[in-house]
Amino acid sequence: MIFDILTLFPEMFQGPLTTSIIGRAVDRSLIKINLVNIRDYSQNKHRTVDDTPYGGGGGMVMTAEPLYEAVDDLRNRCSGNFGPVVLMCPQGATFDQGMARVLADQEHAVLICGHYEGMDERVRPLVDLEVSIGDYVLTGGELPAMVVVDAVSRLIPGVLGEPDAAEDDSFAGGLLEYPQYTKPREYRNLPVPEILLSGHHAQINRWRREEALIRTLVRRPDLLAEGLTEEDRRTLREIARRASEIGDTEA
Ligand code: ADE
Repeated sequence: MIFDILTLFPEMFQGPLTTSIIGRAVDRSLIKINLVNIRDYSQNKHRTVDDTPYGGGGGMVMTAEPLYEAVDDLRNRCSGNFGPVVLMCPQGATFDQGMARVLADQEHAVLICGHYEGMDERVRPLVDLEVSIGDYVLTGGELPAMVVVDAVSRLIPGVLGEPDAAEDDSFAGGLLEYPQYTKPREYRNLPVPEILLSGHHAQINRWRREEALIRTLVRRPDLLAEGLTEEDRRTLREIARRASEIGDTEA
């Protein structure tokens, strides 16, 4: 997959996108990250990319022109399928695992990182999708673009070592991930659950599914609405029954 990232600060991407799993994915050509400096598309001699807002008020507003020029240029130079064009902005749809999956199916995406106090409203027709990474305001769209590249890239086949490594993730099956343990068997009086040492794969899988259900029920009940199997529903009823028994004995 090719990511074209339009930014005023290409240097910000150096660490996160050249290191660890994403860095290796780039080295192995599983993904390509093309950093495009928006300033290179400014049409004036001072190479400015912002101006004061019409109607007054403080701060500067990013101009639409360099972004249109940059996207046109990328579109003209693209030999395969182009887009979607995604604007990183706090007013966008909240990024989640489902959106990451949809983007991971694309061959190409353009991520536009906004800056300054805002953008000329006329940028909006240029974009297919506006994406926010949460209800807080950052100084720019660079960190959100890195979040999106990371979450999308790890879903691309081959990026994670194991073929199904992303399948057990939190959110992958609509549930939070079950608890994981590694050596030693006991640490600071905290033992590894016996079942994980038993070698009974079917029982281990059942335990993991149950733990994922309990964890989701306690921490993110909003996620439980979809994708439950009949077995899951039985397990949840059983968990509720056990919880009420505990309640009865404590009362
Ligand atoms: N730019 C500034 N804040 C942002 C956010 N929360 N998500 C996406 N882009 C942003």
